[in-house]
Amino acid sequence: MNKLIKHCKILFRIFNQNKEIKRISEYNNNSLHKILKAYNKVKYSNFNIDEINSFKECEEYRQSSLKNETLISYEIFGINRKEMVKNICKKGASKIKFCQLLYFIIKNLNSSSVLEIGTNLGISGTYILKALKNQTAGKFITMEGIPELCKISSKQFSSIVDNNKYEIKQGLYDYTFPILLKENHLFDFIFVDGNHNKQSTLDYFNLLKKKISNSSVFIFDDINWSKGMIKAWNIIKNDNDVNYSIDLYQQGIVIIDNNDSNKNIKFKLHLSY
Ligand SMILES: C[S@@+](CC[C@H](N)C(=O)[O-])C[C@H]1O[C@@H](n2cnc3c(N)ncnc32)[C@H](O)[C@@H]1O
Repeated sequence: MNKLIKHCKILFRIFNQNKEIKRISEYNNNSLHKILKAYNKVKYSNFNIDEINSFKECEEYRQSSLKNETLISYEIFGINRKEMVKNICKKGASKIKFCQLLYFIIKNLNSSSVLEIGTNLGISGTYILKALKNQTAGKFITMEGIPELCKISSKQFSSIVDNNKYEIKQGLYDYTFPILLKENHLFDFIFVDGNHNKQSTLDYFNLLKKKISNSSVFIFDDINWSKGMIKAWNIIKNDNDVNYSIDLYQQGIVIIDNNDSNKNIKFKLHLSY
């Protein structure tokens, strides 16, 4: 039944896509237009040769992770379980289209200070760093609890950029998040892809709103994953500080732009299953 509802909702978006794209283009917001441009590029795989090569390199890392049988312990979460890297990759890593979307949004917005909650194996992080690579001031901070995943991602990230371009904050968020908040950051792009429950998602959003630049973008993953996440997304998109939101079913994009007086304008699109 749930699957049927999901497919109906997605079909509805597909039918309405052109209307929704036209509606987006009627608003005069730079970030919104750049996000739409990124969406169109990914939706229709409209890539140039450099982008194709860049994505090929990112996907080679995914493919090698999907063959990796190293066991990873979940002890840090108080769970007596071990999982192979290949299964962690299959279950946890963002799908290719959503990684490409991250890449183009960051590139188009010229984001220079990017935060990710949920490093995992660094698959999305690989795309983020590729997008930031030629940004002289570009810096990427990502947060992960499992020490072995931090080690694996760090190795991958250091093959793309210098070590000073990224930082992996290792440890449970209950411990690392307060430390992050005390630091002197102003993020312009935030990807929330870890600890998918209602209260944590809302806490991250509300606390991070104080650590963003004048115009910034949040992406929340798994907004339809549970009743709690659906509620969290509803609260976020109606928040007083939010100007625009784009619901992609899998992910929710939010624009906070202090120079724009429009509030809580909502769009729905569908990128990929
Ligand atoms: C969905 S995965 C991130 C996937 C990654 N962004 C990608 O697309 O490649 C979420 C990660 O968040 C980490 N995580 C979840 N809750 C956490 C917590 N409370 N403290 C620290 N890490 C946590 C998990 O260990 C997991 O690796």
